[in-house]
Amino acid sequence: MQMKHACVIGWPIEHSRSPLIHGHWLERYNIDGSYTKVAVRPEETEDFLRDLAGKGYSGCNVTVPLKELAFAAADCHTPEALAVGAANTIWLEDGKIHATNTDTYGFMKHLDAEAPGWDKSDKPVVILGAGGAARAICFGFQQAGVNDIVILNRTTERAQKLAEELPGGNIRVAAWDDRTNCPEWASVIVNTTTLGMKGSGDLGLDFSSANPDCVVADIVYVPLQTDLLQQAQAQGLRTVDGLGMLLHQAVPGFERWFGVRPEVTPELRRVILDDLGAN
Ligand code: ATR
Repeated sequence: MQMKHACVIGWPIEHSRSPLIHGHWLERYNIDGSYTKVAVRPEETEDFLRDLAGKGYSGCNVTVPLKELAFAAADCHTPEALAVGAANTIWLEDGKIHATNTDTYGFMKHLDAEAPGWDKSDKPVVILGAGGAARAICFGFQQAGVNDIVILNRTTERAQKLAEELPGGNIRVAAWDDRTNCPEWASVIVNTTTLGMKGSGDLGLDFSSANPDCVVADIVYVPLQTDLLQQAQAQGLRTVDGLGMLLHQAVPGFERWFGVRPEVTPELRRVILDDLGAN
């Protein structure tokens, strides 16, 4: 069989951990293929994607700041890509550029695995933040049938825009200040803001009267145990870290390009954790 190639594009691209994930799977499944990093300038994105086949690629991942540009350059979009308005995974089919956004899948898959039963509660799901990741995650909860999703964002207008752009009648917006006591009334709390990254400050949630069934998730994975997750754990709550989303979101692309649906294993997690530790 012919050797298959895929890559991740971004500007800059040095920081991407995708080659570690896909490289691990290529080795594990003994696939004759490669996965590399390619630095692509925003203004070159469309031309790069149009010539993917010419360059020998089956497809690629897309990272910041090219996700919206890749979405715009694609011919066909999955519902997830349309909901988010940004693409992180590209493949070729019938000569056309196909785009999807696998953050929705990655987050929901990891949540289901780490906090089974989260969906049994009739309390609201709280999303902190209103950027691209919040959009992907809101769409995931909508698809999962959650009927009360509350978005809290420092800039309320951005949360309102998100709610308007994901119609369904199950998203409402609350004031950023209402976050403080949300552990009391939420079934799941997801932090999609950059608060919690090393040295960036505290989210200011009060867990002292938390509902014991509340699940707390953070998409930040450096550090892996953010202050938010530590505070939730100290109250005995179930927590979901950000690394699983990164690992699971890589699965659909690998399957498209290399023809094998790979597994997210503790061994893969260790590979990435070791690398994070080295930084
Ligand atoms: P992404 O698209 O990766 O999700 P983003 O668009 O940069 O990232 O969004 C970052 C999120 O973190 C936003 O919700 C942002 O709030 P604003 O919309 O008000 O900017 C939030 N954020 C960043 N710094 C923050 C801070 N110091 N306090 C509260 N929220 C913050």
